[in-house]
Amino acid sequence: MMSYSLGPVLLKASSITRRVAELGARITRDMPKCGQILVVGVLNGAAVFVADLIRQMPPDLDVRLMFASASSYKDGTESEGAPKIQADWKAARGRHVLIVDDILDTGLTLSTMLRKARRQLPVSVRSCVLLDKKERRKTKVEADYVGFEIPDEFVVGYGLDCVGMWRHLRDIRSVKVEEDEGW
Ligand code: IMP
Ligand code: MG
Repeated sequence: MMSYSLGPVLLKASSITRRVAELGARITRDMPKCGQILVVGVLNGAAVFVADLIRQMPPDLDVRLMFASASSYKDGTESEGAPKIQADWKAARGRHVLIVDDILDTGLTLSTMLRKARRQLPVSVRSCVLLDKKERRKTKVEADYVGFEIPDEFVVGYGLDCVGMWRHLRDIRSVKVEEDEGW
């Protein structure tokens, strides 16, 4: 049995807020002023981030929001590999697609998302992640917009979870993982 407890704060709510505003401004500047922008949030982890990010975009942009569901974690902090992804991909056709995820880790989720989006003849495809754990990459993929690069530590809060817990935290914190001695 694994037991999990909250570790120190890695990113305070105030610095996340500031960085999300910067990302929103940069994305807005880079996006074409005409045409439809389809923001695709990757559930469940990106729900909090994408909600804040789209509200940085001005009223004159034609922004649409949809969600994809991806799951690869079998238990706790160990990934199972190739993620299962469900989304209404046809919506990407003819649009500027922005894939938004909470964290870029092995890269399997984002590379699968990018491949699926590109098949639908979108006008463009870009990606934005709040966090990037560069050291953990298993496939060659980078996001166009990155909030913070973080070390190889399991983190929770601001939408990110550990076995479903702690998505509601305003700060991003590390998690202490301990293996209980069985007896
Ligand atoms: P990847 O496919 O390995 O890049 O993993 C991306 C997904 O794994 C993210 O969308 C998260 O849901 C999850 N993930 C990876 N690292 C963490 C972490 O430190 N905390 C919580 N979730 C994580
Ligand atoms: Mg995820």
